[in-house]
Formats: sequence, structure tokens, C-alpha cells
Amino acid sequence: MNWTGWSAVVAVCLFGFSVSGSADEPHRSPLALAVSPSQTVCLSANHTAGTVILVDLKERRILAELGVGCGPTDVAWLDESTALVSLQNDDSIAVVKRDGATLKLFKSVVVGNEPGGLAVSTSRRRAFVTLGGEDCVAVLDLDRLVSVNETEDTVVVERIAVGGIPRTLAISPDDQWLVTCCAVPCEVFVHDVSSMKQISARKVFDGGFNPGVPAVTSDSQLVILPSAVNRAFSVTAGMIDIGWVIDNRLTKLPLPDGDPSDQKQLGLDIRGKAVGDANAVAFSPDGRKIVVTCGGTHELLVLDFPSIPWPSGDPGDFLPEALRKDATRFRRIKLGGRPVDVQYVGEHQVVVANYLSDSVQFIDLETDQVTDTVRLGGPDEPGIIRRGEIVFYDADRSLHSWFSCHTCHTDGHTSGQVFDTRNDRTYGTPKLIPSLRGVAETGPWTWHGWQTDLKNAMKTSLTESMNTEKPITDEDVESLAAYMETIVHRKNPRSNSTSPNVVLGRQLFEGRAGCSKCHSGSTFTTVETFDGAVEDPKDKNKLYNPPSLKGVSTRRRFLHTGKAKSLEQVLTKFHRPEELVGETLNEAETAALIDYLKSL
Ligand code: HEC
Ligand code: HEC
Repeated sequence: MNWTGWSAVVAVCLFGFSVSGSADEPHRSPLALAVSPSQTVCLSANHTAGTVILVDLKERRILAELGVGCGPTDVAWLDESTALVSLQNDDSIAVVKRDGATLKLFKSVVVGNEPGGLAVSTSRRRAFVTLGGEDCVAVLDLDRLVSVNETEDTVVVERIAVGGIPRTLAISPDDQWLVTCCAVPCEVFVHDVSSMKQISARKVFDGGFNPGVPAVTSDSQLVILPSAVNRAFSVTAGMIDIGWVIDNRLTKLPLPDGDPSDQKQLGLDIRGKAVGDANAVAFSPDGRKIVVTCGGTHELLVLDFPSIPWPSGDPGDFLPEALRKDATRFRRIKLGGRPVDVQYVGEHQVVVANYLSDSVQFIDLETDQVTDTVRLGGPDEPGIIRRGEIVFYDADRSLHSWFSCHTCHTDGHTSGQVFDTRNDRTYGTPKLIPSLRGVAETGPWTWHGWQTDLKNAMKTSLTESMNTEKPITDEDVESLAAYMETIVHRKNPRSNSTSPNVVLGRQLFEGRAGCSKCHSGSTFTTVETFDGAVEDPKDKNKLYNPPSLKGVSTRRRFLHTGKAKSLEQVLTKFHRPEELVGETLNEAETAALIDYLKSL
């Protein structure tokens, strides 16, 4: 194998590199993979290592590894010799050139805040990438992207506004429709690829959240999307058992639009043995089978697509009985680790990117066996932080495996959902799920701030939120707490802004508006609790620990009730300076304050 580009590009993401298998070698953690058009090789996007790895699909071995930048998240081929990689933490797209068994970094182009899902239309000479931090999709000109001199200004031809935190994308096989899935709220946008006009924006049933990677049927008529569903009942063992807390489902939507009654959902969970965190779907080449990776329960589901009995109305709580009893129509294959992305190679074989086992797995769907595992690298024994990460993504830690910590605190951030856990010591008082970015620095924890010890917080989360029946060990608690320490804020492109509005906003924040009394210091919180004047008749305890305002612009729901959907609503409707400090702000001042908040 060759190691082109390691030192130059990867230095900022890696902290040293040594012999394969040793403790200080980075985990690769592939989040996505793409099979080349000729189906001879695949490329994995190794999220925590900052690299891509080229795997020979016939010989099932690594051909090359290349440093590309920070946070590779998705990958797509343009042809046999060129691939694109989205770099979530570098705000850019890398263009990778392949020559046989070697890889070279051709160039990187800045495209905008938090690039995620990637899709390419070679016939229309366009690439599309979600910008999770900007609630839009960047449209890139392919020809300019692969030519030497062109930069951001000319490569990004358009930014199209979509909903909150767009994450995943697909293009219909006829290259006509671009499907974009947004996370908060969970919505599916369809755009006409030739005009970039928005054709439809549809909510994914009530309560849909954590949209995964969608797939479009070969006739370009339907989108199939995996997601979780918030059933809104209290997080108790009884409610979890009957499927009334968090369900895992596939949603079927007609393309390009259609009325809500055309939308159908299929429950995937089995009572007593649910599936956790359905991530990605893929169709077999003949369109008759569909596979679904479930990261939380470490498995791959295989469904016979034409015979799925899509319920007409309410999807119910569980997988339909007819599927559960018929192995020709529904199967579960254990893969271990955290299977995330999946693609078919031929009619009966899939390749899976397995994040937590640092591998690409080959699965034969005639025998349901993992026939080969290509280890991409990483330490042989996971250290304490990785062990914490393993617990965090493990749905088997919840009662009957319905959900993981990640389901609620998506990738250490927040899914933007409201849940009634017993984290606040009572039921009947639902609360917005807090982001865990920077969490180790912002004790005391929970909205009421009653939790003063992070390890205790881990223990309560494992018992009260997960409702596990398994004993909790000190090792679980210690490793989870160690993992929490590593969940940090994304760099904010607006930080250090000196625009007049930000300067005015800061003056108000620290002065007349009185915000810094309660949101103080570098984390913009305190250890005390206050009445934030947020109306909530259900919650008898009116004292709350101010949430940290660092990274507040990355949230789409605010305050403990989650009722505020924008910072403007926070300050003008629910948490008003008039009520907090007796000061009235005019419209321009409120706008300036919001600009300042967005720079934190
Ligand atoms: C069903 C959704 C759900 C699951 C699953 C869940 N949480 Fe939470 N988490 C919440 C909610 C809601 C709160 C806020 C509770 C409150 O303040 O009363 C919270 C609060 C927290 C907090 C306090 C954050 C702060 O800034 O105050 C931490 C830390 C945390 N959770 C970690 C975890 C870990 C680790 C797991 C897995 C063991 C987990 N959570 C599982 C919903 C969930
Ligand atoms: C008296 C103390 C206090 C003052 C003064 C105060 N806050 Fe807060 N802030 C809180 C508390 C407590 C909460 C949580 C309230 C709740 O959810 O019930 C909060 C929540 C927020 C949130 C929601 C964050 C999130 O992630 O949900 C924002 C934004 C915010 N405050 C901004 C401000 C601004 C801007 C000012 C100045 C105009 C301000 N606050 C003044 C105590 C205060």
C-alpha cells in the first residue's frame, strides 16, 4: 500500500501514527463507502482518521490509503479515476485521483459549513452536498471541480435552501430528482435536478427523526428512507416494551410529490427484540431486495421488497407478523460493530462500512454469512475512549434494544426531540434533549442542574433513559464519561466576527440586556439555577441551569420545552429580556443580539 499525503494533510487530524494494530494508531471509523462504476474497487470515508482507503473488491484487500483532511463523511465516484469526499470538519470537498492501485489528493475546495451527504449526477455534470450548518445544499459544477484552477467562487454554482440540518441525499436513477433529507424537523425535499426548482417538501410522518441514507427505486418512482420515530410516551419499561417510545421504521414516499396519504411506513421492530438506529438502505440491482444497516443492533436487515405489506394507515408498533414469520421475506444478519453504509456488488452480495469495527465487510446474501472482513487499521484493543464510544452507539444497552444514547443525542449532538425521561426525577415533564458538545465543561448537568457529577449522570442515563435490564459496570460508566470528554464543539465560521451587529449584540449581552448575569464565562453558563421565565405548567420545579450558549447556532430547538424553533422566538416569545431583567429591546437590538449568539 502507499501512504501518499499523510504528513501534509492529515497532521491536523491525527496525533501521530505508528505500526498497524498499536495503541496509538488512529481508528479508521468508516462512515461511508462507494463502489466504483466498474465494481472492481471501493473507497471508504474514514471519519476519525482523516483518510480514504481503496479496497480491491475481488481480492478483498487494501490497495492504498490517502490522507484527505478532517472528518471524511461521504464519498462518491465520478468515474473509475476520480472520487469526491466530503470533509465535515474542514468545510470542504476533496477531489481524489486514482491510478490503478494508487491514490492522490488532487485538490480540496471549501464549500460551506458542515458538508455531509454527497451525490453526483454525471449526466448533468453536477455534484450536490448537504451543508448541515447552513440548512442548504451546495450545487457544484463537476467540470470546474476537477480542473486545477477553479476555486470555491466558481465551483459552487448555487446554494439551495432546504430545512433544518440537511444530512443525506440521493439522486433518482433517471437523474431527474434530487432527494434531500433534513433532520430537525425531519423532512424530505425533492428538487428537479435540471432546474434546481423545489418540487416538494414533506414531513416524515409525525415524530420522524434521525433520517438515514435514502434509496430510490430503479424506476425513479419511490424513495425509501430509514428513520427513528418519536412515539412521545414516557420513557418507562412498560412503554418501551410495547413500542410506544422510539420506533424504527422505513418510510415510502412517491416521487416527486404526492399527498400525505401516499406516504406509507413500515415498522421494523420485533417485540422483545427491536432494531436500533436504522442508518442506510440499498436496493439489489434487480430491485427485488432491500437491505438496511442497523448501527445500534449491529446488524443488516434483508427484506423482499415487492412483497412488503405496507400498512395503509397507522403503521402499528411492530414489524408485521407476516414478515416476522417468513425468512424469505425478512431476515436479520448479525455483523457486530456499527454497520453504517451499505452497497450491492452483484446480485447477492453487499459491502458494508462498519464504523466501530474499523472495517469493510463482505456479506453473501445467499448464505447470510460475512465472507470477508477487510480491517482498515486501528488499535487491536480499543482504549477507554473508544470503549465509551462503543457503549454510546450500542442499542443493546436499552431495554429490548430499541435505541442507543446516539438515537437521542445524535452523534453526540442532539436529535432535537423532546422526551419524558426520569432524568429529572419525575415523569410527566418532557424535556428537550440537550446537545452533548462540550458537555464535560458545563456541569452541573440536566436542565434543572441537579446532577453535579458526570459519572453519576452516565449512570442515570444508562438506567433512567436506557432502562436496561443488564447490570451496569464501573467500566461502562468510566468509559462513557471518558468519551463525553472528547465530544467537542464544531469550529464556528462566524466566531471572531467583528461585524457592527455582532459588536452591538455583544455590548447588549454584557450590558443592558443582562444576559451575562446568567450566561457567563467562556461556556456562557453558570453553576447556579434560575427561573428562565419559560412557561411550562407541567413542571413544578421552576429553577433551571442556563444551557451553555456556546455552539447555540447549531441547535434548531431551544429551551427545556423545545417549543422555541429559532433564537428569535426564544428572545421575543419565551425567554424575554422584559421578564428576565426588565429591559425592552427593539427589533434591531434583538437582531444584533441574535447575530452575536450565532458567533458563539
Ligand atoms: C430517550 C432519549 C434519551 C436517551 C436514550 C439518552 N438520553 Fe441523555 N438526555 C435525554 C434528555 C431528555 C435529557 C435532559 C433530561 C433533563 O434535563 O431532565 C438528557 C440529558 C443528558 C445529559 C445531561 C446533559 C446536560 O448538558 O445537562 C447527559 C450527559 C446525557 N443525557 C447523556 C446520555 C448518555 C451517555 C446516554 C446513553 C447512556 C443517554 N444520554 C441516553 C434524552 C436521552
Ligand atoms: C436570570 C438568568 C438569565 C438571564 C438574565 C438570561 N438567561 Fe437565557 N437562560 C436562562 C435559563 C435558566 C435558561 C433555560 C430556561 C428554560 O429552558 O426553562 C436560559 C435559556 C436560554 C437560551 C436557550 C438555549 C438553548 O439551547 O435552549 C438562550 C438562547 C438564552 N437563554 C439566551 C439569553 C439571552 C440572549 C439573554 C439576554 C437577553 C438571556 N438568555 C438572559 C437564564 C437566563
